[in-house]
Amino acid sequence: MSPSASHLLQWYDRHRRDLPWRAADHESPDPYHVWLSEIMLQQTTVTAVRSYYARFLARFPTITTLAAAPRDDVLALWAGLGYYSRARNLHACAQIVAARGGFPKSVGELRALPGIGEYTSRAVAAIAFNEPVVPVDGNVERVTARVFAIEEALPGARPAIARAAATLNTDPEAQARPSAFAQALFDLGATICTPRNPACGICPWQDGCAARKAGLAAELPRRAKR
Ligand code: ADE
Repeated sequence: MSPSASHLLQWYDRHRRDLPWRAADHESPDPYHVWLSEIMLQQTTVTAVRSYYARFLARFPTITTLAAAPRDDVLALWAGLGYYSRARNLHACAQIVAARGGFPKSVGELRALPGIGEYTSRAVAAIAFNEPVVPVDGNVERVTARVFAIEEALPGARPAIARAAATLNTDPEAQARPSAFAQALFDLGATICTPRNPACGICPWQDGCAARKAGLAAELPRRAKR
């Protein structure tokens, strides 16, 4: 049995994490909220991001207000989150997006904006615009490596993992709900398919997981010794 998007989505509808940048059920999230959270989450944990995200939105409720702010104010509000090039790019990106009247929807156009790389373009396109693409972060990489029992070590395995993640996304149920599917993969990786002691017994994909069948779940993905 292969991993079914429908099982994952049913699980997500029941157990999805309540995160401040997520829209209520069946509402579209604000692209500004999605983008801001994804930039903050790039090298920072959900726990650390929460308070910064709230302060940013209180101070800059729209991308227009962020674009119009002095850069030093943005950098000051970012202080403590680290990787300050993110804050400089955030401000530059806000100015471009505000000037064009909103975010572009395609991965290609998003990818051309400051601070938006391969992962973030896919995350914003999927979550905010329901584009049928899978953003592959560390969580999604781990879930995918396990579900397909990809034994090749990281970082060399990255292209194979990305191809495998794309096959998960060919399921018609995934295609029908790209935003939920991407976020369901994040939540599965963060709460069940964890790096250590994965909770396979309660996993919605336990029947379709090749690593579980082989008794390898906790060992994958492997990492090349440095
Ligand atoms: N990690 C990166 N993006 C995320 C998101 N939108 N929700 C939860 N975890 C994430």
